[in-house]
Amino acid sequence: MPSPSADALQLSVELASGKHSLVLANPVMAASGTFSYGVEYAKVFDIQRLGAIVSKTTTLRPHAGSPPGRRIDETPAGMLNSIGLQNIGIDKLLRDLAPAWSRWRVPVVVSILGAAVDEYGACAARLEGVAGIAGLELNISSPNARRGGMEFGQDAATAAAVTASVVRACTLPVIVKLTPNVGDIAAIARAVVDAGADALCVVNTLQAMSIDARARRPNITRTFAGLSGPAIKPVALRMVWQVASAVSVPIIGCGGIVDGIDAVEFLLAGATAVQVGTATFRNPRAPLDVLEGIEAYMRAEGVADVRELVGAARA
Ligand SMILES: Cc1cc2nc3c(=O)[nH]c(=O)nc-3n(C[C@H](O)[C@H](O)[C@H](O)COP(=O)(O)O)c2cc1C
Repeated sequence: MPSPSADALQLSVELASGKHSLVLANPVMAASGTFSYGVEYAKVFDIQRLGAIVSKTTTLRPHAGSPPGRRIDETPAGMLNSIGLQNIGIDKLLRDLAPAWSRWRVPVVVSILGAAVDEYGACAARLEGVAGIAGLELNISSPNARRGGMEFGQDAATAAAVTASVVRACTLPVIVKLTPNVGDIAAIARAVVDAGADALCVVNTLQAMSIDARARRPNITRTFAGLSGPAIKPVALRMVWQVASAVSVPIIGCGGIVDGIDAVEFLLAGATAVQVGTATFRNPRAPLDVLEGIEAYMRAEGVADVRELVGAARA
């Protein structure tokens, strides 16, 4: 089998085409809420080498997040979080961050959330045409939002209405991030694709909890939280497979990816790209390590074009 050199590898993938074009130099993205707005990580490693960065989910107005108390807990092979969408709000994002992003080579996708269906469209309208913003990711999947978030992503008609409100409001590429906390993820996927989603991110955190046996109380102040990390990888993989059977738009696999082999598994299941989240807390360069792991796999296996891997386990 020929062994392509690093230079010969074709790593570029397309998440949206036409006037909504979103082409990544490689399939590895930093996941929302685990990479802040990218600025701090730029001091740790060359973030310009990533395929894309997804911002912390941002709302029309700044948000203080969950009430004071315990918001995170470590679990076997994962973590719980109930950050509650603490964020700086769109005005500050436009003023302080977009100008810096416009000088970056790496595309930045802004994750947005609205407390009502039309608020997603209102957020999108504010971000339309802003230099430095390459696309939107609609968070209809956070288990930590008091309003909006997961409740919108659990109902196909509401998920479609949110997507349509954004597609109407802007010409940016639209990724919709799905929740695993549903019975039939394929039905939600079909509904948002029919409403105009360019790509899907599969998945956000699984709703979960932990209890302190001695204190006889839940560990997390708000009781329920989102589970992430390697513990959820098999669930996320299964859902990528199911969504790939249901729709033909690009899928971004997310959930428990720590190294290049994890990422390759998602590509083989049908994902076109991947997002790395929780792994970044243990190893801030995790997204770059994942990229280098994919490259090593491709060289070892004689794969010249990363797109050959997409869905290859499904044949
Ligand atoms: C601390 C923390 C904060 C997160 N914040 C967001 C967020 O603001 N918006 C969002 O869409 N997902 C958020 N997520 C979910 C991740 O983007 C990702 O979908 C999930 O954690 C599964 O991937 P992972 O196992 O690689 O972390 C957050 C996850 C963690 C651990």
